[in-house]
Amino acid sequence: MSSHTVSVLFVCLGNICRSPLAEGVFMAAAESRGLGSRFNADSAGTAAYHSGEPPDPRTTAVAAHHGVHLTSVARQVTRRDFERFDLVVAMDRSNRRSLERLRGHRPGPGSDAARIVMMRDFDPDLGSPDVPDPYYGGAEGFERVYRILERCCGGLLDDLAD
Ligand code: 4NP
Repeated sequence: MSSHTVSVLFVCLGNICRSPLAEGVFMAAAESRGLGSRFNADSAGTAAYHSGEPPDPRTTAVAAHHGVHLTSVARQVTRRDFERFDLVVAMDRSNRRSLERLRGHRPGPGSDAARIVMMRDFDPDLGSPDVPDPYYGGAEGFERVYRILERCCGGLLDDLAD
């Protein structure tokens, strides 16, 4: 792994359920491997509906249940994020389409060259390409999302640590 800090932005629709949880789970997994100082993580939403809000209480609850403390405040993703982050991780195919539209189809070789990837590309278990949106369901959906994100963050760290 290169010596510079790798900056990772996790992106979902509202930035109150999946992506703040992904940010917290990723940093907790990095810290448990002694790699916390090698990574910088943040999260954002493709929509601004919840900008300025803390994570959904169900997100905070499932994180706390697994010992993960969330500190993020919702914000909308911006074009500048493609310059500031090395890797932009979309939770689902709709998020990826929104990110590609925002960036435009000709990423430059330098300043806006962040790699856009799908979170579930790093899931060691085969399944849907999407992290399901738990917003309109119950607590069990948040627990399911937590387990998916835990697997994917492990896979992502394996990949980045290569
Ligand atoms: P997230 O979930 O994209 O995982 O944060 C959602 C949060 C809010 C809404 C939809 C999905 N919403 O429609 O307000």
